[in-house]
Amino acid sequence: MTTNPLAVSICGVDFKNPVIAASGTFSFGFEFSKLFDIDRLGGISVKGLTREKREGNPGPRIAEAYGGVLNSVGLQNPGIDVFIKNMLPYLETKKIKVIANIAGDSEADYCYLADRLNDTSVSIIELNISCPNVKEGGMAFGVTPQSVKKITAAVKKHAKKPLMVKLSPNVADIADNARAAEDGGADAISLINTIKAMAVDVERRRPVLKNVTGGLSGPAIKPIALRMVWEVYNAVKLPIVGMGGIMNASDALEFILCGAAAVQVGTANLIDPLSSGLIADGLKKYVEKNKMNSLGELRGKLLV
Ligand SMILES: Cc1cc2nc3c(=O)[nH]c(=O)nc-3n(C[C@H](O)[C@H](O)[C@H](O)COP(=O)(O)O)c2cc1C
Repeated sequence: MTTNPLAVSICGVDFKNPVIAASGTFSFGFEFSKLFDIDRLGGISVKGLTREKREGNPGPRIAEAYGGVLNSVGLQNPGIDVFIKNMLPYLETKKIKVIANIAGDSEADYCYLADRLNDTSVSIIELNISCPNVKEGGMAFGVTPQSVKKITAAVKKHAKKPLMVKLSPNVADIADNARAAEDGGADAISLINTIKAMAVDVERRRPVLKNVTGGLSGPAIKPIALRMVWEVYNAVKLPIVGMGGIMNASDALEFILCGAAAVQVGTANLIDPLSSGLIADGLKKYVEKNKMNSLGELRGKLLV
């Protein structure tokens, strides 16, 4: 029997490879599937879902930055019902694991969304308590260790699916928040969400983004993301899904060496929509070249 060296199990969910499309950068997969076979990926984390449909923030809501992108899209999405009825059946035709990224304005919203997802084919719930672009939703729950623990424990009581808590980098100590998620009963941790930032238009003397601030993503944040993954890896026992500026297979390997069991690819999809498939191919080449039985052998094996 031949085993797949790229296979990875995260809180009991088997991914055929550790490359997952990051929430908000891959929509629900449909548009990308016209460009490449998305079955080459291990999974997809869908755009942040809320109770009701949302239009997101007014534009301009995307700005370029050196080595990255600033966005203040907010949580534009069709709402949980439309996702379950119209998007999920399409994703069920694919051989990729579906992660439902959820967000809300209150603890009750998050618990409601977890309940709604219980009897669906979704594999993992990703708790987005780290979106810097909406006033009430998300970020407010992800700031202090106390609030992280409280929301995690509340949603955990409702979720029959494994719960992955997505941490914000806009905090005092990421390791404290990771420990809080673990204490609250999280099954896995993903990090990082975007870093709160802004861009200025000198001619107009105005912020580029209508929302004034946005979230920075892309290669510019990779060194920060790596540092945070490493700190979290040393703080908790939970499996970690790392992200932040991954553009190629070598970047993904850096995250795995720092302790990530899998990675998510975000902004790279906006620059080259074929990126995530190419990263999965690159990891395959790497294990073949190095004659590895399992890519997991590298996890956390940074020599320090
Ligand atoms: C346009 C855009 C929309 C995003 N929307 C979401 C979202 O709905 N939920 C979420 O948890 N993260 C969202 N993110 C954050 C990404 O999933 C990811 O955490 C972040 O961009 C860092 O990874 P990257 O540098 O590879 O993009 C969004 C990012 C971008 C660029």
